Order: sequence, then C-alpha cells, then structure tokens
Amino acid sequence: MAGVPLLPAILLDIIGSAANIVLAFLSWRYALLLSRRQPDNFVWGYLFYVTFAIAAFTISRAVGHLIKQFLLIAGQADLWREISPYSGGFNTLFMISVAAVMIFYHKGVQAYEALEHEAGKLKNANRELAAAAVQLRDLNQTLEQKVEERTEELSQSEKKFRHLFSASKDMVFFSDAGNRVVDMNDSGFEMLGYCREETSTLQLADIFLNPDEIDTFITRLSRDGYIKDLNVDLARRDGKIVSVLLSATAIIGERGEVQGSEVIAKDLTRLKTMMEQLASSEKMASVGQIAAGVAHEINTPLGIILGYSQLLMDDVQEDSDAYQSLKVIERQTKASRKIVADLLKFSRQSGSTREEVDLNEILADVVAVTEHTLGLSNIAIHRQMANDLPGVDGDPEKLRQVFVNLVNNAHHAMLAQGGGELLLRTRIDNGDVMVEVRDSGHGIPERYLARIFDPFFTTKPVGQGTGLGLSVSYGIIHEHGGTIEVESPVLDQQQGALPGTLFRIRLPRSGADRRQMTDMSGARA
Ligand SMILES: Nc1ncnc2c1ncn2[C@@H]1O[C@H](COP(=O)(O)OP(=O)(O)OP(=O)(O)O)[C@@H](O)[C@H]1O
Ligand SMILES: [Mg+2]
Repeated sequence: MAGVPLLPAILLDIIGSAANIVLAFLSWRYALLLSRRQPDNFVWGYLFYVTFAIAAFTISRAVGHLIKQFLLIAGQADLWREISPYSGGFNTLFMISVAAVMIFYHKGVQAYEALEHEAGKLKNANRELAAAAVQLRDLNQTLEQKVEERTEELSQSEKKFRHLFSASKDMVFFSDAGNRVVDMNDSGFEMLGYCREETSTLQLADIFLNPDEIDTFITRLSRDGYIKDLNVDLARRDGKIVSVLLSATAIIGERGEVQGSEVIAKDLTRLKTMMEQLASSEKMASVGQIAAGVAHEINTPLGIILGYSQLLMDDVQEDSDAYQSLKVIERQTKASRKIVADLLKFSRQSGSTREEVDLNEILADVVAVTEHTLGLSNIAIHRQMANDLPGVDGDPEKLRQVFVNLVNNAHHAMLAQGGGELLLRTRIDNGDVMVEVRDSGHGIPERYLARIFDPFFTTKPVGQGTGLGLSVSYGIIHEHGGTIEVESPVLDQQQGALPGTLFRIRLPRSGADRRQMTDMSGARA
C-alpha cells in the first residue's frame, strides 16, 4: 500500500462525499416537489421519506469521511480514532432508518396495491353502473315516448267523444248509481231549461215527469243492461213537458253491479206537433167538405127567406109589430148568410182571384178600417213594415179578411184589460214573406192552443163569436201555400215570456218576384 500515492484517493473521497451530499439533497428536493404537486400520490409520499432517510444517511456518512480526511491531513489521527465510533454509530442509525422506511414502504406498497385492486373493482363496478344508467336512460326515453304517444292517442279519442257529446243535437247525459245526473250536454240543458251549474243537484226524479217511468227505466236497465226507444215525458224547469224517445246503456262495475247509465234522448215535441198539425189539417179538410155541402144546401133556403121577408116588409107599415118581426128575420137571416159565406170561404168553395199583392198595403187598409175602433178601446197600433217587401200571389180580399180577423181577435183579447199594444210587422224570412200580428192581451191558455184553428171553437159568449175567424184564416193561408202559427205567451229573446199572443203568417213570395230574382242573379253571373 505504501507504493500507491494516497492523495488522489483522499481527494476522490472528499469530492465524492461532497457530491454525495449534493445529489442526496437534490433527490430529496425532487421527491419533495413531486409529493407537493400530488399530495394524494402514495408513491411520491414514500419517495419523499426514502430520499429523506437516504439523504440523512449519505450526509452522515459523507460528513464522517470529510472530517476523517481533514483530521488525517491535519495529523489528528488520534482524535479521529476517538470520534470514529460516533460517526459509525450515526451511519448505522441512519442506515437502520433507511431500512425501516424501506420495510414500511414495502408494507405500504402492499396496502397501496390492495387499495388499487379495490379501486379497480370499484372502477369496473362504476363503469358497469354507468353503462346500466345509459341503458336505463334509453329505456326511460322509449317509455316516455310511448307514454306520450298513448297520451296523444287518448286525448284524440277523448276529443272525438267530447265533440260527439257536446255537439249532439240530442240530449246526452250520464247518471250515477244514486240516480244523480253527473254530466249533461248543452242540448240537454237547453231541452230542460236548466243551467250547467245546477247539474250537481239534478236527480232523475227532477227531470222525469212520472215516477213510474223512472221505475221502468231503472228496472229495465238493471234487467237487460240497456233500453231502446222508451217513450217518456220529461219535465222542463218551467213546468212544460218534453216528450222524448230515450235509449240508455247501463255502466256495469267489476262485480257486475250497475254503477250508472249513459242516456241519449231525442226530442219528439216537434214530431208530435207535426203529427198533430197533420191530423188537424185532415180534420179541417173533412170538416171543410161537410161545411161546404151544408152551406150550399142552406144558402138557397136562406136566400128565399131573406127575399120573402123583404117582400113582406113592403106590404106592412114600418111602425107595426109585424114590420119589426120581419126586420129581426131579415137581420138574423143576413147573419146566417155571413156564417154560410164564412163556411164557404173556409172550405175554399168561394171564388178566388190571383194577383200580385203587397201585404204592406193590405195591412195599411186593415189599419185604416180598424184604427178608429181600436183607438176608442185605448189600443195603440205600432207598425214595422219592411221597405223592400216582395209581393205575394193571392186574393187581396181574402188576405185582407185574414188580417181583419186577427186584428179583431187581438182587439177582443185587449178589451177586457182596458187597452194595450198591437204590433203589425212585416219582414223577409228565408226568402218568404212574414207577417206578425202581436198583441198584449190576455193570451191563450196552453190547453186551447191546439184547438183555436178548429171550426166553431170559441171561448166567447154565444152571439159574440162563431169560432170561424181563425179556421177561415187558416184555410185562406193554406190555400195561398203559406202557414199560420201561434205563440202565447210571446217568447221575446231579451225579455223572455211576455203576456199576449203572436200570430206568425208565412207566405211564399210571388212568382214574378222569384223570376226577377233569378234574372238578376243570372245577369250577375
Ligand atoms: N189574439 C188572441 N188573444 C187571445 N185569444 C185569442 C186570440 N185570437 C184567438 N183567440 C182565441 O181563439 C178562439 C178562436 O178564435 P176565432 O177567431 O176562430 O173565433 P172567435 O174570435 O171566437 O169567433 P169569430 O168567429 O167571431 O172570429 C177565440 O175564441 C179566443 O179564445
Ligand atoms: Mg175571431
């Protein structure tokens, strides 16, 4: 050993120890930076402690070597021998700490790996969960779409049935097990004269006129499950009767019990009125034929009686009893002849002319003749004449007779109450000419309404009315191709039912007028 120069080895030891210190410090600092950047990273944490322990060991060892070299150079070998066991002790201590950290690191790595493994499982589970969530979301969307489609279909079908229910011109309603009306369409309310707000309180017993018919309705529904074409009378709110043709189906619950019913009812009032009118026209026609035959037979002897009584009057003194008696015979015979003439008019046996007639003019004539008498009875006449009223084809005399009859009747109806108002109105309705004669008199009781056009129907005392006025008027209007209707009380759109009577006469406009209209529309085209 004495042959090998010591200086390079000493220098190498000094420089190597210093470099060891620097490198150890740098690696520790680098581990420090890494662990600061990612404090959660387990590896960087361990690296920090490992480099720290190695750095401590390296510094201890390098400082020991440096001290040794400097003491040997300074010739203090004895001192070095004294302190060298301490330096070795420190080195061992730090080496143990490195080993301890390494062992701990090994355990730590195992724990970390176990954690990683668990985390991996968790990640997998998480991925599977995410995939399941996507599948669920897709399923949800499909379900939502299906629900939306079904809801739309349901709403369309609900709309269709709602429309059928609400737009039906027939009455449609639903009742529950307690015979309460739970829903009814507008036609039903209109037919019965009730408001929608009142449905909650409406029972079958309120709308059926006869309790027996409710029993029939309920019995047949629970027995057969349905009812077809049951003719029942319903009671309107104002007490009037509506005759309907009813069909119903029972609403059956899960246990087979009747939970209510669906009912459709068709108003037969119009049909009944038409049937009555038909029957009445047939009756009129047959009465007319008899009347015509009788009138012809009576007319001749009446003429002879009148002629002979007038002849006899020439032969007796005017102040004698015989003359007065003959005067009575003459008057009564003339009255009888008037009745016969009326009968003939009614049965259309009297002669008839046809010309274009202006009903405004006819009404003006009638007013001129009756105005004075009506004025004396405190009756005010109001006229609402349409300016451009088309003419009608007819017999002016007969038409005048109709309006005189109507005005006379109105006069009589207002007489007892000491006056009133008479309204004469003309207008065009659906291309026809309409005349309305309306009075504010005592009106016509409902029970008489169907009979007033019957020949000889009168409510006037004997001698004051023959009951032929309206039947003659009816005959004349029908002969002219028109209709005559009565309304009592008068239904006013704003004020409701008003006392009095309204006669409505509809006549077709004249052929000349129709031709003119066609020419005009042809020319326009
Ligand atoms: N405007 C009216 N107001 C109230 N009741 C009326 C009216 N018009 C007709 N009537 C009723 O109708 C009945 C029949 O009328 P109609 O004109 O046919 O006969 P009349 O007036 O009784 O007798 P006459 O043969 O003299 O006309 C009347 O008796 C009356 O009860
Ligand atoms: Mg009359």
